[in-house]
Amino acid sequence: MTAILNEAERIGEVNATAAATSSWRLLARRFRRHRPGMVGLILLLVIVAMAVFAPLLAPYPPNEQSDLINTPPSAEHWLGTDDLGRDLLSRVIFGARNSLVTSAGIVALAVAVALPVALLAGYRGGRTDAVIMRLTDAAFAFPPLVVALAIVSLRGNSTVNVILAIGLVFIPSLVRLIRGQVLAVREETYIEAARSVGAPSARIAVRHVLPNVASPLIIQVAVSLGFALLAAAGLAFLGAGPPPPTATWGGMLKRSFDIVLDVPWQIFVPGTAITLTVLAYNLIGDGVRDALGRSGPAPPVPSSRSAPVAGDTDEGLVEVRDLAIEFARGDHWVRVVEGVDLTLPAGRTLALVGESGCGKTVTALALMGLLPRRTGRVASGSIRFDGLELVDLPPGALRAVRGRAMAMIFQEPDTSLNPAFTVGDQIAEMVRVHQGAGRRAAMLAAIEALERVDIPDPAARSRNYPHELSGGMRQRAMIAMALVCSPRVLLADEPTTALDVTIQAQILELLASLRDELGMAMVFVTHDLGVVAEIADEVAVMYAGQIVEQAGVDELFARPRHPYTEALIRALPQSATPGERLATIPGQVPDPAAWPAGCHFADRCAHAEDRCRSGPVELTDGVRCLRADELQLEGTT
Ligand SMILES: Nc1ncnc2c1ncn2[C@@H]1O[C@H](COP(=O)(O)OP(=O)(O)OP(=O)(O)O)[C@@H](O)[C@H]1O
Ligand code: SF4
Ligand SMILES: [Mg+2]
Repeated sequence: MTAILNEAERIGEVNATAAATSSWRLLARRFRRHRPGMVGLILLLVIVAMAVFAPLLAPYPPNEQSDLINTPPSAEHWLGTDDLGRDLLSRVIFGARNSLVTSAGIVALAVAVALPVALLAGYRGGRTDAVIMRLTDAAFAFPPLVVALAIVSLRGNSTVNVILAIGLVFIPSLVRLIRGQVLAVREETYIEAARSVGAPSARIAVRHVLPNVASPLIIQVAVSLGFALLAAAGLAFLGAGPPPPTATWGGMLKRSFDIVLDVPWQIFVPGTAITLTVLAYNLIGDGVRDALGRSGPAPPVPSSRSAPVAGDTDEGLVEVRDLAIEFARGDHWVRVVEGVDLTLPAGRTLALVGESGCGKTVTALALMGLLPRRTGRVASGSIRFDGLELVDLPPGALRAVRGRAMAMIFQEPDTSLNPAFTVGDQIAEMVRVHQGAGRRAAMLAAIEALERVDIPDPAARSRNYPHELSGGMRQRAMIAMALVCSPRVLLADEPTTALDVTIQAQILELLASLRDELGMAMVFVTHDLGVVAEIADEVAVMYAGQIVEQAGVDELFARPRHPYTEALIRALPQSATPGERLATIPGQVPDPAAWPAGCHFADRCAHAEDRCRSGPVELTDGVRCLRADELQLEGTT
């Protein structure tokens, strides 16, 4: 035990910095191979060294005047002198200080303001986003140079005021850029997965969204430094820079421009310094962009969703009654699930089956309180967990239930795990959020969870990033993450669909044994009736937003009572007669906006009669078919 604790502690510490260290190392290695980027870096280092060691390097004090007015380059004054007899080389060396500090200050200020604002707008969306973006649009309406000039003339010429003036002007465009990235990342399944385990929004935004918008932000920072330098030089050129006799490149540019017809060469001194510095910034920006472009976080991948429940015993840990779910389409709500009743007892598995688009996933999302906040809603009905009504539960209370008492496994581990963190960190995060555990204890729990899902050498695997694991291993890690807080209900949405047959069988076996070991109630969402036979106790068949049949698994396969259930069974490969084509179900699941007034399955049903289309068909005695008692349907033999 002590050994494991020590290992966990060590891994806790190592993993905390592992993500950053490994990513930065990779980035550094790729940047080193980028020649233009390296040239830019060396150039910038020379300029920085020039600024830092200016008193040692400059041959004269920057403001020391002499009688040598506007002299050309000579042995005494390598770059000549200005109209007050000051040594231009010394002034350009000292000027580097102001230019670097000003450009860095401008960008730092802009990022410090824009980053939290953009995270807030992009992550929260809705009204908050609308208000922030309208303010940003309004800010764009003002010419930036005029705004900067106005601020400096109001507050006075000084380096701080120049930073403030130009920094403020940079903020709106940075907000736009970062918010766009946040919007894209927010839709990722690993963000949904983090929400599903009840992590608070602020923590998700900082821990999960921020690292994934870092790449474009770093590139933008590098490019912005060049713009900031030019903008500061431009202000100084217009007389709004730090006051004389401070040596600034913009100020030197202005003085030399005033006498350009008489002493044309002088303008090249500050001009070259500005050009080289901007060039250095841009080359570094290009290098960073290229390095990140190949090593940055995994690109967005299509997402998946999760599952719901059913059963018919008295002792329901989860009880769903008359659930209806709607989504916003344009200016109205469309019902996608209706009349769903489910009862899920502890220690049992309910399979929710049906073709694509029948409403399995949205039912599961509703159970977890994870319907899209603004575009989805539970229109009516009740979802009770251990007696607690979850519909309309305040977000804080719902979070407490999610992740701890109810957990969810998503279909695609590739998109459900955050590529920027090790699996150990991600699992430990659950323990820290829900049990308030310290880093060491959380990492220990994570390693134990990985061990429980049969991942070999769990301590070592906890240090791996998702992309370093195989597909089956990633799915096991997802299961470990869902189970680490010992939930009482597990929702698994197509957890094996992306896996090959052998791994699929292993995962099914694992889930069944974990359910028995932990006494969990499990909802298993699938469109594959074959999988159902292996894992489920009860089956709820969904069609076009309704449960059309509910029964024990053996009974359902042996004696289906709904034509749709029979059709699903006949479409199973094992039902096929050798030499004959596999049976398919003609037609398609109707779009929720075009559900028939009568039986939803009528257009595809070989047994349909006129009365089937005349009005809603109720679920009676576990089946939603007017002809259930008279039809002789075939099951498996
Ligand atoms: N975010 C959403 N906005 C609008 N409509 C949605 C949204 N999510 C799902 N729907 C609609 O709800 C219905 C049910 O979708 P759901 O994802 O639950 O199907 P499913 O049974 O899980 O299918 P699959 O097997 O393809 O996962 C579909 O018509 C779908 O278009
Ligand atoms: S109600 Fe009619 S149309 Fe619907 S499944 Fe039964 S027989 Fe077919
Ligand atoms: Mg689905």
